[in-house]
Amino acid sequence: MTIAITGTGSALPEKIVTNFDLEKLVETTDEWIQKRTGIAERRISDGETVSTLAAGACKKALEMAGKTADEVDLILVATCSPEMLLPCCACQVQELLGASGAAAFDLNAACSGFLFALNTAYAYLHAGIYRNALVVGSEVLSKLVDWKDRGTCILFGDGAGAAFVEAGAEAIIRSNGRRAGMECMVQGADGTKGMVLSCAERAVNNAFIPERQAESPYIRMDGQEVYKFATKQVPACIQDALDRVGLAVEDVDWFILHQANVRIIESVAKRLKVDIAKFPMNIHQIGNMSSATIPVLLDEWNRSGSIREGDRLVLSGFGAGLTYGASVLVW
Ligand code: UT7
Repeated sequence: MTIAITGTGSALPEKIVTNFDLEKLVETTDEWIQKRTGIAERRISDGETVSTLAAGACKKALEMAGKTADEVDLILVATCSPEMLLPCCACQVQELLGASGAAAFDLNAACSGFLFALNTAYAYLHAGIYRNALVVGSEVLSKLVDWKDRGTCILFGDGAGAAFVEAGAEAIIRSNGRRAGMECMVQGADGTKGMVLSCAERAVNNAFIPERQAESPYIRMDGQEVYKFATKQVPACIQDALDRVGLAVEDVDWFILHQANVRIIESVAKRLKVDIAKFPMNIHQIGNMSSATIPVLLDEWNRSGSIREGDRLVLSGFGAGLTYGASVLVW
């Protein structure tokens, strides 16, 4: 059996917000943001929602895969910023696409969400429950960001990326001898560090609780704790995933990493002793879009023709939870 990504797509809001725009909102500079994060600008919703962006990305992924919406078996949306608690975003996407035959549900593992959703889709396909899945990461973080907090508002952006994953009975051997498809996945969590990157929902405030608790509805982050976690956990889980299938970092052509900070990506490359040229980046133009960063970068790199059949990819990221994961696959 081969379980492989056969289409990718992405959708970004039209509106561009530069570091110079942020200089007018908080005490910061373009120089500080670029030096500490690598970000120059990001896309911010001007009305686009998590579901409309997700549906836009899905349409492009389906088109690339040569499929129509009525052929989709499963829609999995990873998001931590849905516009509705009910219904879930995946059901909204199902409606927008007209994918009436698909099962649909959301999954939240913050910035690791796309990886966790991809792994979940893999498990369903491998078990023979579904033949294909649309796997999406979509976020409108701009509504969760405190635009007075310079420690977080400079980092995040809005957008969506999608991958169409299909199971086929036959093994597909590429011209370099590699077998196409998903090879290995690793995912993990450390709930004890949950509060270093958090965003509260409504507090328990039912009719039987007299004292209402005040809570901040915005993203709160201990940036340095998250940074330490990422630079340790991401290379460790990539190494773990490769070890499980007897591969070395030299066997990997592209490392598609969560775009949170250029310095984090550079540190991962250094720890793995891999040339930074194997780590494509788009954080400069679109910042950190949480679960959307990996599929948007994958789509960009795929559409540019940089990924060739037979290339081996590692997708890896980390995020609130704290969560982390890595997937190894041959294109
Ligand atoms: O998807 C996961 C999302 N989260 C992450 O990936 C976060 C990972 N962490 C980071 O990327 C970095 O920790 C940050 C970019 C958030 C911060 O960079 P840093 O090098 O860790 O800076 P810092 O927090 O140590 O702050 C250094 C200084 C402080 O001033 P003092 O105390 O030295 O006077 C901050 O108040 O920089 C100040 N600062 C800023 N200055 C200008 C913090 N934010 C800003 C800002 N502009 N936007």
